[in-house]
Amino acid sequence: MNVLKPHVSKKTSVIFLVVIFFFCLSNNLKAQEITNQKTNKILIVYYTWSGHTQYIANYIQEILGCDILEINPVTPYPEEFKKCTEQAKQEIKDGFKPELVDFSIDIEDYDTIFIGSPNWWSSIAPPIATLLTDYDFSGKTIIPFCTHGGGGKANLFTDMAKLVPDATILEGIAILEGRAKLAKSEVEKWLKKIEILQ
Ligand SMILES: Cc1cc2nc3c(=O)[nH]c(=O)nc-3n(C[C@H](O)[C@H](O)[C@H](O)COP(=O)(O)O)c2cc1C
Repeated sequence: MNVLKPHVSKKTSVIFLVVIFFFCLSNNLKAQEITNQKTNKILIVYYTWSGHTQYIANYIQEILGCDILEINPVTPYPEEFKKCTEQAKQEIKDGFKPELVDFSIDIEDYDTIFIGSPNWWSSIAPPIATLLTDYDFSGKTIIPFCTHGGGGKANLFTDMAKLVPDATILEGIAILEGRAKLAKSEVEKWLKKIEILQ
């Protein structure tokens, strides 16, 4: 009996070490998965006045299955087009940043953030300026998108970049208002081009 004891104990120790090894390995893999999930967290934030930019936001969401957030000013813009353009013109000239309706999503939780705006007077709509000013986007990857009435991206993406100097800005997309509803495949092509989608 005494002769067998050390032999049994050695075998048990080997099994024990093997179990510990696989336990540690599996925990390490789990930790890596969680880290990867965190670093891949994507959010879409957008403002829309008449719905075109929302089409693009929804297409990105459908394709990537990520979180999405529509922002709105506490005081909505006038529904009448001429009134809205006049107010927007003055606000953009003054650098006015309207207060936003509270939202529950924590921007801090995301690393890659799509930001969508209509082209307003060749720039971003003021609610987007508020968002970029009030929240910390440093170290994040920003992907801009916009819809427009013929003026293209104009100064939108550069105006966005000025407000988030410590973020990395990827190539954005600008879509003509009349094409927004039909732009899903164009959006998908762009997501592949910027390597967000395989
Ligand atoms: C206040 C205002 C200003 C606009 N300024 C421009 C402009 O400078 N250039 C342009 O191409 N389109 C301009 N448009 C048209 C919008 O960019 C276009 O309709 C856009 O698709 C609207 O997006 P939305 O439906 O998401 O609000 C303007 C529209 C509004 C309401």
